[in-house]
This record gives sequence, structure tokens and C-alpha cells, in this order.
Amino acid sequence: MFKYEKEKTQRLKERIGKLPRVHLANLPTPLEAASRLSEALKGPEIYFKRDDLTGLAFGGNKTRMFEFILAHALNMGADSVVAGAAAQSNYCRQMAAACSKLGLKAYLVLRKVRGDIDFQPQGNLLLDLLLGANVEIIEAKSPAEQTHIMQEVAEGLKAKGHRPYLARMANIEDVGLDAIAYVNCLLELYEQLIDMNLKPTYLYVAAADTTQAGLVLGAKYLGLDFPIIGINPLDKIWAEDVPPAVAKIANMAAEILGLDVRVEPSEVISYGEYVGEGYGKVTKEGVEAIKLVAEKEGLFLDPVYTGKAMSGLIDHIRKGKIKRGEKVIFLHTGGFPALFAYSTEFKLEDKVKVRE
Ligand SMILES: Cc1ncc(COP(=O)(O)O)c(C=O)c1O
Repeated sequence: MFKYEKEKTQRLKERIGKLPRVHLANLPTPLEAASRLSEALKGPEIYFKRDDLTGLAFGGNKTRMFEFILAHALNMGADSVVAGAAAQSNYCRQMAAACSKLGLKAYLVLRKVRGDIDFQPQGNLLLDLLLGANVEIIEAKSPAEQTHIMQEVAEGLKAKGHRPYLARMANIEDVGLDAIAYVNCLLELYEQLIDMNLKPTYLYVAAADTTQAGLVLGAKYLGLDFPIIGINPLDKIWAEDVPPAVAKIANMAAEILGLDVRVEPSEVISYGEYVGEGYGKVTKEGVEAIKLVAEKEGLFLDPVYTGKAMSGLIDHIRKGKIKRGEKVIFLHTGGFPALFAYSTEFKLEDKVKVRE
């Protein structure tokens, strides 16, 4: 078992505790054994860290982050938030919910990813609209183009006397705060592992940037030696940039917290090969992973992030990289409302029996 770093834990808690924060998340999230899944895979012991249960419009990893980011926005006097991502974005759905709760107006600039199906008010988009967000769907060819449109929306609001806060995508200065939310998650997990006398061999997570940054920083600071394996859901052209981006964000968080550790890109493990055709497009293996977890554990993953991350874990088990007797934590970052927008891709129509 690893040693309980009492002093470091206290120091980290104190530093995080000093940051402005609004209450949005139900914490700690449970850490649960998935024994039927482990058995079905004839693989390691698998445990789910249930960040799908953080609360706020069906939960997910963003709830923890918005506690810090939106406290910061409110302190700056914001009355609205301009956020942008893909049409079925979990980030934007949770942002719309946080805005409703905090009395801010949400303006979402959503990028078309899967064609005209993205216009259908289903899944996360349905929830955005029910939450009262102002939604615009755009066709952007690059992140820069989308960021530019977000900036235009913010300028338009300012011209009308509003005080918009530009969120992620168009605001790289504040991502250190997002990562701090996941330093805090790592701390929470660490204490649960100590309580359960559980020493994992690996931690798997669906990760593009801030979530993995916080986890890697927290683990390095506490001296935890289990590798954190990020399965990256982004398009291939962006994938090779993940380790430097994650390290940079981790170091922004380290600076805000005044920690004397820094993360190197070579310390960031990220697999890009489970994305399939591209961001937001389902893979056969991801769909199988979603069905397996649903059938064995009664819980849902999503087609864009956690389903693909689980397909990576399953592949690693099948290839013998992870063995029976080892212990794997799978951080469930949420996202399952997107399932409803992907119903056709699951091809389940034939399973519906109609009695004659
Ligand atoms: C369900 C889910 N998992 C993981 C991620 C990745 O989070 P991050 O961008 O912090 O790496 C996202 C991002 O939107 C997500 O929605």
C-alpha cells in the first residue's frame, strides 16, 4: 500500500481551499467495484470512480471545474457566459445548467460535427434548450474559427451593456483552474484508496486536456506511482499535441497552487488510436464497450468519450497489457445524455419485438 502523505495532503487541501469556489458538485463521488465487468473480461479488478454522479444536469467531470471557473467569473462581475464546443457537448450542457443555477445567461456556440443530425434537439442539445441557453450551431473548419465567432458573440453582448465571461476554447488563461478541480478529484480518490486499502496498477480516463492535467499533477505531487492512462477522443490531427498541452495546463495549475513540482510532456500517457473515424463519430468497439458495461454493471458510458476510453481499456486487457489480479480504476467522466442523440448508430431497431 502507499504511505499516507498527511502533510502534503493537508497542504494541497489548504491551497485549494483558499480559491474562490461556488458549490455545485455532490462530493465525494463513490468508488465502486465492477466485479461482473471484471469477470466478463477475465481481466483485472475494475473500479469505477463515479464522476458521472457529480450532479448538475446528469453530472460529469465539468461540475467540479465550474465550481472554480464560475466563482472566478462571478468575481469578475460576469452576468453571462459564452461557451463553445461540439453540438453534443457535455461541457456546454453542464455550463448551461450551472448558469441556470447561478443566475447567469448562457450563450452556446456549437460546432456541427456529424452533419445535419446535429440540428436535432436530442441528447445534450435538447437539454441545452430546456435549460434556456441561447444556442447557435455553426460550421467551423478550425478551433480558431469557432473561437473567433465566440469572441464576436461576446463583443455583441458587451455592446449591449452585458458582462460576458468567455469560457474555455476562447479562454486558455483559466484552464489551470479546471485542472485544479481534478487535482482535487485525485486527492479525493487517494483518500478513498487509503480507506479501502486499495493500490491500483493503473488509472484510465477519457481525456483531452484539463482532466488528465489535474490528475497527473496531483499524482506527481503526492508521489503516486500508478500510470494515468488517457484515452484521447480528439481527431487524429490534434492527438499528437496532447502530452505537451496536458503538461502545460498541469503546470499552470501548479503555479496557481504554488506547488514546487512541474509535469513534463514525457510524463503524460495518451492513446489516440481509439478515436476511430474522428471526434464524435462512434466506433464499433466503443458501442460494444457501452453495451457490455450496461449489461454487466447497469451503468451507462457515452459514445464520444467514456465508451471509447473503455474500448481502449478492454483492448489493453485483451492484448495482455493488463493482467488478472491487477487493479484498474476507470474514472467515469459522465457524458451519457449524448446516448439519446446517437440512437440510430446503436442499430437496435431489430431488437424490438412486436407481438403480432
Ligand atoms: C464525458 C467526458 N469525458 C471526458 C472529457 C474530457 O475532459 P477534458 O477536456 O477535461 O480532458 C469530456 C470533455 O468534454 C467529457 O465530456
